Amino acid sequence: MLISAFPHFIIFVFAARVHAYDSTLNDVRIQCNETFPISYEYDVHLMNFGSFPDESDQTSMCFIHCVMDKTGMMDTEGTFHKNTVVEKLQGFPNDTEIPDLEEIVEHCVTETDQEELCERAYGFGKCLMIEEIQRHGEAQEEE
Ligand SMILES: *[C@@H]1O[C@H](CO)[C@@H](O)[C@H](O)[C@H]1NC(C)=O
Ligand SMILES: *[C@@H]1O[C@H](CO)[C@@H](O)[C@H](O)[C@H]1NC(C)=O
Repeated sequence: MLISAFPHFIIFVFAARVHAYDSTLNDVRIQCNETFPISYEYDVHLMNFGSFPDESDQTSMCFIHCVMDKTGMMDTEGTFHKNTVVEKLQGFPNDTEIPDLEEIVEHCVTETDQEELCERAYGFGKCLMIEEIQRHGEAQEEE
């Protein structure tokens, strides 16, 4: 009994880690990719370096806006909703708890000065990723 129960426990823990961040985020990302297609390469570049390889690509920026708009992180006026951002992005993208996420969000809301909505969403997302990578990116390799 014990022997067969053990692997299930491991699978459960692993599955829970994979879905550490809000699951609606993934659904929204899939939906937005249909309207504003973003290549896998751009997505990975953003996760690893905090920016797109070509920063004049409006469609990819609008993908970020689409995700923020549909999840309620940003409203139609371009105002960021900090609590929602923290709630949706906790654990994203590396499934690692980000202890100072609130502080990062606060900082990036102040830093983001773009007005056009897609550029604004991208600027904010870029700031969040760069802060995360600078503060926690290194620690990732220890896991
Ligand atoms: C978006 O969809 C395309 C085509 O199905 C796919 O190749 C690509 O990896 C998707 N992008 C992301 C970020 O999932
Ligand atoms: C996520 O993990 C990748 C690969 O380990 C790393 O390059 C990247 O900096 C990490 N991103 C964040 C936001 O911590």
